[in-house]
Amino acid sequence: MKKVAIFASGNGSNFQALAEASLRKELNADICLLVCDQPEAYVVKRARHLGIPVFSFRAKEYPSKEAFENEIALELAKRGVEWIILAGYMRLIGSTLLNRYRNRIVNIHPSLLPAFPGKDAIGQALDAGVKVTGVTIHFVDEGMDTGPIIAQQSVNILAEDTRETLQKKIQAVEHELYPKTINELLDE
Ligand code: GRF
Repeated sequence: MKKVAIFASGNGSNFQALAEASLRKELNADICLLVCDQPEAYVVKRARHLGIPVFSFRAKEYPSKEAFENEIALELAKRGVEWIILAGYMRLIGSTLLNRYRNRIVNIHPSLLPAFPGKDAIGQALDAGVKVTGVTIHFVDEGMDTGPIIAQQSVNILAEDTRETLQKKIQAVEHELYPKTINELLDE
């Protein structure tokens, strides 16, 4: 089984979905670390509850992205991490990690990329008035949500949808699609 680290910054529902799939032996990966740039985030509590080790840090305590990514890289190397799974990690990955994990970093984004990259993709879709949005899983490169697409699934936007109902539908898709896609990717 491939060793993976999950990077997250906030709530962590995707982290939870992956960890639960792993507990059910339905994930072809060993989640050996949560990396979190917000030590108070709820995802940290989820990890502690599940007994998954956490490396948390505050970016502002480091002189540069390179400095904190070097420390992350050490933590990953210590545990033999082979793949990085981003799940709501609100930072661009820098060259330190990209060079070490080239083509082995994946991200999930709540829109059908290349539509609505960046922050608040769900709000962007609602504001644009599109009738279909969805979820994209892609490899991470230097850009913001720009790397090669691995998997996508659409979600219809109905007239009665609000931000809350749409977010719920998108997250339900994410929680199924992410473990499934990671299994396919890591089996290769
Ligand atoms: C997800 O919608 C994901 O697509 C995006 O950030 C959100 C994280 O949600 N990258 P959660 O923290 O996993 O609940």
